[in-house]
Amino acid sequence: MSVDGFEQGLIRVTELAALAAAQTMGYGDSHSSDKVAVESMRRELDLLPMAGRIVIGEGERDEAPMLFIHEELGAFKGTEDENVQGVDIAVDPLEGTGLCATGAGGAVAVLAASERGGLLEAPDVYMDKIVVGPTARGAVHLDAPVAENLRNIASAFNREISDLTVVVLDRDRHRQLIHDIRRAGARIRLIADGDLSAGISAAVRGTGVHAVMGTGGAPEGVITAAAMRCLGGEIYGRLTALNKEQEQRLEEMGIRDVDRIYSAEELAPGDQLLFSCTGVTDGEMLRGVRFFGGGSRTSTLFMSRQRGIIRFVDTIHREDDTAPVHFQ
Ligand code: FBP
Repeated sequence: MSVDGFEQGLIRVTELAALAAAQTMGYGDSHSSDKVAVESMRRELDLLPMAGRIVIGEGERDEAPMLFIHEELGAFKGTEDENVQGVDIAVDPLEGTGLCATGAGGAVAVLAASERGGLLEAPDVYMDKIVVGPTARGAVHLDAPVAENLRNIASAFNREISDLTVVVLDRDRHRQLIHDIRRAGARIRLIADGDLSAGISAAVRGTGVHAVMGTGGAPEGVITAAAMRCLGGEIYGRLTALNKEQEQRLEEMGIRDVDRIYSAEELAPGDQLLFSCTGVTDGEMLRGVRFFGGGSRTSTLFMSRQRGIIRFVDTIHREDDTAPVHFQ
């Protein structure tokens, strides 16, 4: 299969996962929304001509349906043949399960892929994160005081702190962070879920998001890092356990240096990083799935680091060839 063909295959994987999840939008059952997205991703990844291996799965932290870490997928799974493409894959089949269940905006189906070893095998624990786009790259440090980071981001953007918007997950654990951001004078957008999409928005000018701060999922952190490496942004993250079970998970994965701060390049070191993200519900940059009589329409962000390609893919999926095609 050509490079283009493989990339199209990955786009199709997130498109179909998004379609499956979107069919359950608003049903109030985040578990089944996640389940249909996981099943679709597994099925479609298994068809691709690769020896694929899941390095970031999902489900441990929130007991969701899983694509297991080290699960092998693809038409050549398990093959060691050097002519067969070995691909490491990080998935989040439905990022924002609660958003999909309630029909709120910002749910996406997302994956990152790379050559072997190109994505950190992070356990399903939490991660303290700070994410900025190319403009403020190098201006922040995870352990710097919030006000100092905001001052540096503002100066990188050549504007006042009061002109910045920081996205923060609306969680009790962020009370102090929210207080510090407000005190420094920046605006805050509190989100119910979805710090991965928020991170991507921070790396794209015109979204009105300048940084993401706070503690979210570590798997989401690694996938965000893959996106940052394609977009020229930065994420700094520190793995963190919020309970005993997660401490054990860190230990089992042999992670002893719990103070280590990872950069985007350490979280997603691959040269051949690919990233595909399809909107499930309407978000900042991607529209959610739209169903119409006889078909549906999806909106996807696809990126290839090596090829320097960023594609916004708008696809009409026709089930009935008499279905009218609308311009928008
Ligand atoms: P789900 O897609 O599994 O629902 O997680 C969404 C999310 O909000 C992530 O964007 C974020 O990193 C993480 O959950 C935060 O975890 P928690 O909800 O436990 O604070």
